[in-house]
Amino acid sequence: MAYFYDHLMRHVNYHRWALYISELFSFAEGERVARVLELACGTGNLLLELAQAGYKVCGLDLSYEMAREAAARLHKFKLESEKKSNHPLPFAPCAWRGDMQNFAVAAPVDAVICLYDSFNYCAEPERARRLLNCAAAAVRRGGLFIFDVCTEHNCRRNFGNYYERESYLEVSYIRRAYFKPLRKIQVNEFFITDDFSRGPTLYERHEQRIYSLREIEAMLDPQQWVLAGRFDGMSRRPGTEKSDRVHFVLKRI
Ligand SMILES: C[S@@+](CC[C@H](N)C(=O)[O-])C[C@H]1O[C@@H](n2cnc3c(N)ncnc32)[C@H](O)[C@@H]1O
Repeated sequence: MAYFYDHLMRHVNYHRWALYISELFSFAEGERVARVLELACGTGNLLLELAQAGYKVCGLDLSYEMAREAAARLHKFKLESEKKSNHPLPFAPCAWRGDMQNFAVAAPVDAVICLYDSFNYCAEPERARRLLNCAAAAVRRGGLFIFDVCTEHNCRRNFGNYYERESYLEVSYIRRAYFKPLRKIQVNEFFITDDFSRGPTLYERHEQRIYSLREIEAMLDPQQWVLAGRFDGMSRRPGTEKSDRVHFVLKRI
């Protein structure tokens, strides 16, 4: 999917999202947020926005192809900025392949972020707890972990029975999405065909676990995190089960 991911996401305003996230950074205590790690960074769209805004960014993604796109995007940014300013960047933005449920960093960052429903890729609460523990180990005291989740309301209303057929360059894909209410699983299936070679149709299946907001709050270890905010979409209104997307802002104790 990495090949056409940006096309699939063309409706997303990453610039606006990055502005929103940087506003949420004001919840951090102590030094101003400068070093940011994005988990499940995809092709690096948001990382690039944050890098352009002056943050020292790095990212990881489980998919090698996604991480490679992100790394290439950040490297291009580095070369262009150095050419423009005639100075080496003080920090090389980077992305690598890694599992957000099992990672560690050499030096703590000011903020960890995990966006666009990526938290929902934790198939069981135990995995989500592992993610929260890894993030807690990666963030300095007073730093933040910001993530968003997709609600059941959004799944039922917009992706309960969804079908899309699209072409991008020489690739065509069909996307089928449906929600499994008993297991609380949102399924996205992609059937991908290379129109040029007319080779076999590739199948990619994504399963996301939809947690209630209460379930997520119950996962937070009070010795690690304080819930600083729970917001509806990209606003400061309280996030509820009726929101489509809820941003959680956790502060490291
Ligand atoms: C919906 S995309 C979001 C990508 C990016 N955050 C964005 O906003 O465009 C979800 C991403 O989560 C990644 N992912 C799923 N499970 C993961 C895991 N255990 N560790 C790291 N990345 C994971 C996928 O490879 C995919 O790139």
